[in-house]
Amino acid sequence: MSSATLEATTAAAKPWRLGARTRKAVLVLHIASVGSWLGIDVVMAVLTFTAMGTDSASTKALCFRVLELVTVWPMTVSGLTCLVTGVLLAMGSKYGLTKYWWVVLKLCINLLLSALVLVALRPGVAELADRGEANDLAVPLGDMIYPPIVSPTLLMVAVVLSVFKPWGLLRKKKK
Ligand code: HEM
Repeated sequence: MSSATLEATTAAAKPWRLGARTRKAVLVLHIASVGSWLGIDVVMAVLTFTAMGTDSASTKALCFRVLELVTVWPMTVSGLTCLVTGVLLAMGSKYGLTKYWWVVLKLCINLLLSALVLVALRPGVAELADRGEANDLAVPLGDMIYPPIVSPTLLMVAVVLSVFKPWGLLRKKKK
């Protein structure tokens, strides 16, 4: 075997890894995106529960209008940043994307929450914003209680999975 062929074979067999500095930079971005995502969830909860509890029509209208602004796009950006950096961290390390339960579960949570923002939350808050603009505030808010509960709960599950890394490998290693 020529030395060029040998080099090519070795490179192909060697898994791709992020360099130490790049990995740290990506990890910082990943954790920052998680922090901002959780922060937006807190703002969403404050606005939703204020709108539900207040007797003031102007406060309610303001909450309806601001909800759309602070949720949909900021959440989508945080969710996608978290997804891309998480996938890079997983694929560029020994963890891989589909080797460990905790990584696969986090991937599912991230995809589910990002999809819910666009499919379920976006139309709901868009309608509320229109109603806030028109001062048409007699709207049942029952379903709006779910996003500020479901999103931070699943994000906290993902944080716990990241720190404890439970259950190990998805498949047993071949001997
Ligand atoms: C669902 C949203 C997510 C949250 C809340 C989250 C949270 C976190 C946190 C807090 C860390 C830092 C853990 C530590 O340094 O001890 C971390 C690291 C990590 N995350 Fe995520 N993550 C999420 C999505 C993802 C996704 C989608 C993937 C990949 C598919 C992923 C893969 C990783 C990997 C590989 C690490 C590095 C673990 C290590 O080196 O110890 N994460 N994540």
